[in-house]
Amino acid sequence: MCGIVGYVGSDKSVEVLLSGLRRLEYRGYDSAGIAVIDPHGELHTRKRAGKLQTLIDDLDGLALANGATGIGHTRWATHGGPNDQNAHPHLGDDGKLALIHNGIIENFAELKRELLENNPDIVFASETDSEVAALLVGIEYRATKNLAEALRRTVARLHGAFTLLVLHKDEPGVVVGARRNSPLVIGLGDGENFLGSDVAAFVEHTRRAVEIGQDQIVTIRPDSVTITDFDGAPVASREFEIAWDASASEKGGWSSFMAKEISEEPEAIAKTLLGRIVDGEVRLHELDALGDALNDIDRVVILGCGTAAYSGMLAKYAIEKWARIPVDVELSHEFRYRDPIVNSRTLVVSVSQSGETMDTLMAVKYAVQAGARTLAICNTQGATIPRESDAVIYTHAGPEVAVASTKAFVAQVAAFYLLGLHLADVRGALSKAEISGLLEELQALPDQLSTVLEQHEAIKQLAGWMTDTRAVLFLGRHAGYPVALEGALKLKELAYIHAEGFAAGELKHGPIALIEAGQPVFVVVPSPRAQDSLHPKVISNIQEIRARGARILAIAEQGDAAVLPYADVVIPIPLASTLFEPLLAVAPLQIFAMELAAAKGLDVDQPRNLAKSVTVE
Ligand code: F6R
Repeated sequence: MCGIVGYVGSDKSVEVLLSGLRRLEYRGYDSAGIAVIDPHGELHTRKRAGKLQTLIDDLDGLALANGATGIGHTRWATHGGPNDQNAHPHLGDDGKLALIHNGIIENFAELKRELLENNPDIVFASETDSEVAALLVGIEYRATKNLAEALRRTVARLHGAFTLLVLHKDEPGVVVGARRNSPLVIGLGDGENFLGSDVAAFVEHTRRAVEIGQDQIVTIRPDSVTITDFDGAPVASREFEIAWDASASEKGGWSSFMAKEISEEPEAIAKTLLGRIVDGEVRLHELDALGDALNDIDRVVILGCGTAAYSGMLAKYAIEKWARIPVDVELSHEFRYRDPIVNSRTLVVSVSQSGETMDTLMAVKYAVQAGARTLAICNTQGATIPRESDAVIYTHAGPEVAVASTKAFVAQVAAFYLLGLHLADVRGALSKAEISGLLEELQALPDQLSTVLEQHEAIKQLAGWMTDTRAVLFLGRHAGYPVALEGALKLKELAYIHAEGFAAGELKHGPIALIEAGQPVFVVVPSPRAQDSLHPKVISNIQEIRARGARILAIAEQGDAAVLPYADVVIPIPLASTLFEPLLAVAPLQIFAMELAAAKGLDVDQPRNLAKSVTVE
């Protein structure tokens, strides 16, 4: 959702804010705005509907105003449409204070009514919940003449989730932030300090970062950082070094971030495995934080949304097969509203690229309250979900900037597979030799995946021929099923084409009625050499739909002769056993969706209506 950046330091705030917003734009791109205090103590704000570039094109002389204190915002609209008025920052204290907000203030209507009753002259310039907070901080500032205290008094009245940053022209060199269930991280510089929704906001200036806990207030000045709780009591904080480097979130010559990130998938898997496989065994020191809990658990519940949830579906197949523990996979937003059965013998594993998805965060909090042990699989250091969990396995996919998740997905699956093999070891469900053999297969995947990516041009050509397609179906069985779902999700979100993923066996129970002459259907075909009967079953499914006119686009093992007679197109992938094949089969579908969207002239990095990090429920 919205991206937030704050800066205090030297007279370069406009540059710092704009470069931070550029790196955060994936969080929302309905509008953008900045507020800076210039060297003469004047407050300037500029905000524009549309993407960040519209704001940049419209800055006029604001760069000249620069100054050492500023805040910036890129918006994903919740309350009020995406126009100039609703863009942030919002003003308070007669224009002397500027505020930016991420999240939703649930009691804003009540607060707004109260503000209007008590201050008949007050004029609201926007339809947002955020402006209420700006006006309230302004009123409190007049009473206290202390920005941190004014914000503290305000947040005590707010319900919901929020990150707020404020500055006031009477306190140059100060930015104050507050957070509840919404992300905010500090960047520590030399004579300058930063705030950001995530570390991407300031990683080009510093690798030193500090986590901010729930319900805390932070005040940054060029040479100091102070953190308190919402009651004003000082709190301890943890500094960490950012593992990403700034160039990792540059496009670097690629046509899109998404193209670059797909090309990084082999590396994302390799880095996630790095140091975690030693002498044919899994080494996950991160799990020490769970103590002996892993010996006692009788069930695993996996929580995630969207693409992350599909990685969880693959984890279910792997963990149940290898460790023989029952696993349930749940969409985070469905989980806590149905009174789920969770107790101290349940290991709840959340999976989230951003580590900020509100639905998943709330589900994790529910699990903690129910007494479960919690483990996060996450790609973003300093994020909220790992902080709220007992332990975390970080995926090392590097920053994912394109809104559609790609390399994070394969890294999540790799991390889950390490977890599955570790659980198998702890519980003695597989022999050391079996585990070592499976780890070898896992380690071979980056090289195998690199050969799949070599087919990018051929897949692009296929996508180019299909720009008029109105609907595409995706079929898979067993581990191929989550891949089918993911292929369909990618096509929907990027190319705005109706797409559905089905378990291949389910087709004859209804969806086969959708098949008519020429209907394109991607089929994820399992290996003919896999030690199970999946392959012939999927070949039969292909025959059933081909007989009804479907156009078959098969992703199949190189040289799979059984597919050739029935497929219109075959995208070959190297041999891999059933559970590992998804890590090779998914990239062609990601590339297909991306290239089809590009051929239609769409923005593949920032699809309409979406934001990368969904921090509202
Ligand atoms: C799809 C996509 C989303 C995310 C989902 C969860 O391409 O990116 O479905 O996977 O919003 O996000 P995280 O992993 O950040 O919790």
